[in-house]
Amino acid sequence: MHKNNAILAANCISFIVENQCDYQKDQKNGTFRLTFYYFCIDIFLLVIIMKRIKIKELLSAPAIGSDVTVKGWVRTKRGNKNITFISLNDGSTINNVQIVIDVPDFEENLLKDISTGACIAVKGKLVESHGQGQNIEIKANEINLYGKADAETYPLQKKGHSMEFMREIAHLRFRTNTFGAVFRIRHAMAYAIHKYFNDKGFFYLHTPIITGSDCEGAGEMFHVTTMDLNNIPKNEDKSVDFRTDFFGKETNLTVSGQLEGELGALSLGDIYTFGPTFRAENSNTPRHLAEFWMIEPEMAFYDLDDNMDLAEDFLKYLIRYALENCKDDLEFLNNMIDKDLLGRLNSVINNSFVRITYTEAIQILTSAEKKWEYPVGWGRDLQAEHERFLVEEHFKRPVILTDYPKEIKAFYMKQNDDGKTVRAMDVLFPGIGEIIGGSQREEIYESLLNRIKEMKLKEKDFWWYLETRKYGTAPHSGFGLGFERMIQFVTGMSNIRDVIPFPRTPKNAEF
Ligand code: 4AD
Ligand code: MG
Repeated sequence: MHKNNAILAANCISFIVENQCDYQKDQKNGTFRLTFYYFCIDIFLLVIIMKRIKIKELLSAPAIGSDVTVKGWVRTKRGNKNITFISLNDGSTINNVQIVIDVPDFEENLLKDISTGACIAVKGKLVESHGQGQNIEIKANEINLYGKADAETYPLQKKGHSMEFMREIAHLRFRTNTFGAVFRIRHAMAYAIHKYFNDKGFFYLHTPIITGSDCEGAGEMFHVTTMDLNNIPKNEDKSVDFRTDFFGKETNLTVSGQLEGELGALSLGDIYTFGPTFRAENSNTPRHLAEFWMIEPEMAFYDLDDNMDLAEDFLKYLIRYALENCKDDLEFLNNMIDKDLLGRLNSVINNSFVRITYTEAIQILTSAEKKWEYPVGWGRDLQAEHERFLVEEHFKRPVILTDYPKEIKAFYMKQNDDGKTVRAMDVLFPGIGEIIGGSQREEIYESLLNRIKEMKLKEKDFWWYLETRKYGTAPHSGFGLGFERMIQFVTGMSNIRDVIPFPRTPKNAEF
């Protein structure tokens, strides 16, 4: 404990006792009310002085000369036998505050135990700093050690660990500058998404996580069951008898909230979902997760053009929000992770997106003098290399592709009169490829039912969805934005596993 501390404590006690005496004296005099009021203010001020202040707040309006308390984790410690400098971070900002310690004033063992990664509380005076790299610093009066971090074993000793290594220590990677920045930005983006839709009069609809249908029809679903896997009841034809299962039917984790979202839109008008979605696709790529978050707006009376307008406006709003509200973190990422990051973000908000049909895109790709890993041809799905060529080399800005062949898109998309294509739209982004997938929806009952049958989907699973086309159907549209792909774009992180706190990918569900 700091020597001055005893003096401070003694002062506080005499301060309170004095006031108490005044209080008793004055009570006799009948003027106790006023003195009691001052007594309360004294106590209040004492509490304020001792209350923890977040480093972000401290740095934004530093009250030089005031007493402050900060709490956080030690980033670095250096100095000599007379003076020690600690760089402290509490997660509220990427910026650290420097703590200055007069070594002789503190117990030797305490200072020895404070190493990189340790958690401490510091009370002290805020003073101007003459050192390089900061304007202010805290001259420590008292230090409390909450938790040591053994220098021999603490994994985040040195800088420059690989991203792969960080994934193995995902429980600690929040404590690095990079991941602190990424997860603060992730939070800001989630907030901005709700703000955007709320300001536009959309309603946030909570769609179920456990469902009995496959929205995308790709069959990439995780089963949900309470059945004993060693003793699965079977029907006569050897298929699984789900009647005894928890829900009495086959269920899975949702791949998309869209179908339920449509039910909401066809009454509330404009809705959006924002929740976790699950895909059991065995894709080990830097853009795929088995558990990812999706934002899915769904709007009654929107056609495909309205849908594209909303998608473009929404994406630009989010990027603008990040540029305005996450400056420090973005500058750090621009310097340390991706030198083109800020340039790319600004370029996207300052250019309108190209809008072309899938058929036009195929023409561009077939006439490009490029060797493709995957073949290009009308009817084939586009691969990341094709999408990125269009965006990064050909147009050099985001591209929205529309009117895809119906065979490569989901059953619910509005069919065009040509009988071959559907009113689909994919938004393609630089460095990412597909960031949004959406469409105008098929609102005609017979056409939708035909498509369900053609695609050999189970009609009975979609009875409720079909009924919305039977009763008061309306033209409507919507799309899904992959939240992590958006965070990748905004942060410049090249692997999707590094923008979600605890990634779920094939053979990986640690933490
Ligand atoms: O294109 P998708 O599959 O569309 C849907 O799910 C529609 N139901 C959306 C709608 O119209 N309401 O997925 C939408 C977006 C993709 O563009 C991509 O950004 C992201 O979700 N996404 C993934 N993100 C991470 N990992 C995966 N495995 C993803 N699959 C799709
Ligand atoms: Mg898609």
